[in-house]
Amino acid sequence: MNSIFGIILALCRASLSNDIDNVKYQIERLANAYKKNGTEAEYKAISSLLKNTAKKQVLNGSKLKISNSIIVGEELTRQVTIPVDKETASPLLEIFFSNDLPSEPPIFDVPIQTAVESVIVEWSNYPKLVAMNAAPSHSCLIYGLPGTGKTHLAKWMANQIGLPVVLARLDGIVSSFLGTSARNISSLFSFANRYKCVLLLDEFDAIAKLRDDPQEVGEVKRIVNALLQNLDERDNCGFTIGVTNHEQLLDPAIWRRFDVQIEIPKPSSMVIEKLLTYYMTPLQLSEAEIRFMSWCSSGSSGADIQKLSNWLKRMKIITEYQNDNIVDLMRRYSILNTGRMSDEIKKILSLSDDDILTKLKGEELNFKQKDIAAIFNISQSTVSKQLAKVNKEE
Ligand SMILES: Nc1ncnc2c1ncn2[C@@H]1O[C@H](COP(=O)(O)OP(=O)(O)OP(=O)(O)O)[C@@H](O)[C@H]1O
Ligand SMILES: [Mg+2]
Repeated sequence: MNSIFGIILALCRASLSNDIDNVKYQIERLANAYKKNGTEAEYKAISSLLKNTAKKQVLNGSKLKISNSIIVGEELTRQVTIPVDKETASPLLEIFFSNDLPSEPPIFDVPIQTAVESVIVEWSNYPKLVAMNAAPSHSCLIYGLPGTGKTHLAKWMANQIGLPVVLARLDGIVSSFLGTSARNISSLFSFANRYKCVLLLDEFDAIAKLRDDPQEVGEVKRIVNALLQNLDERDNCGFTIGVTNHEQLLDPAIWRRFDVQIEIPKPSSMVIEKLLTYYMTPLQLSEAEIRFMSWCSSGSSGADIQKLSNWLKRMKIITEYQNDNIVDLMRRYSILNTGRMSDEIKKILSLSDDDILTKLKGEELNFKQKDIAAIFNISQSTVSKQLAKVNKEE
């Protein structure tokens, strides 16, 4: 028990001096001391406290203060001079400070959310990991279809890590002047390595795409080589995030440079429902309406859902449309957004109310009569009458 008292004293000292990393360390020691003494209940209680706190830190969106003390480099300020392309004077990068970055995480299925959070939790354990020669991941490649929340995720991760974002402007970097692009890449990385920041290489494929142009082969080789070399040198500075829609265009050697590679899929129906609820706030739709809209949106990206929700919100606010039921609204939306909806759903929405009603009741969708009533804004008895009529006709 003496050793436990020693740990409690150290814990008191650490908390009185506001040294949060040390507090955590002493709490861990305390848990282990209880384990060693065979007092399993105390060990479990303290361990679960530690685990939940680590999780909450990520989920609450609290930024990791440690990045500031651990990452070497100068503090970025709004006054800093941004490097430009020498020929065209286009800026090579843009800076996003905490206030410009999302504080809410994008919505994904739980396994992706948990995996992403683990990268951030690694950073919250930075001192402990480095002390054991197990430095956290320093680079992450995010890839997937357009509008699935990749840029949002990258910026949110940076905000969680507690560092500003240096966003590479590939339009400024890729120069039409021979040899200049490689020099611009070096200027970009020198800037990112000088300051405490997350380097974000968004739409990374813009570089790789040049490869299709036979006249650009030599220049692309130079750019890819410059990227490889600079990515290698950046290994222990800050965090680097690459984002791309066309991962197949990326050079395999570039792929390998990233410690973590996350594929972001199109949202599942559960995620679509969460996105609709999130983006419709403060307006509330019934569960049945959300399910119906989620079905209409199958195959859509997060960006499509955000657009749909914004449109629907406007319709629900404008007095002239407030009484329209969700089927009529979705019909109108499908005409205004032909490119955002699948052909199959567009075809179904063009059917009569009776046909849609039968489809919703059918085995595949299996909506309850009360849900159909909410979707069409009619009474349940009207629904059952309509269904009886349709069955009779068949
Ligand atoms: N899973 C999601 N959760 C929350 N918002 C999302 C999600 N997916 C997309 N969005 C929203 O859609 C918009 C577009 O997202 P974002 O720019 O991050 O997509 P992207 O994958 O980077 O697209 P692109 O490949 O076209 O660059 C943003 O406003 C974003 O917040
Ligand atoms: Mg993007």
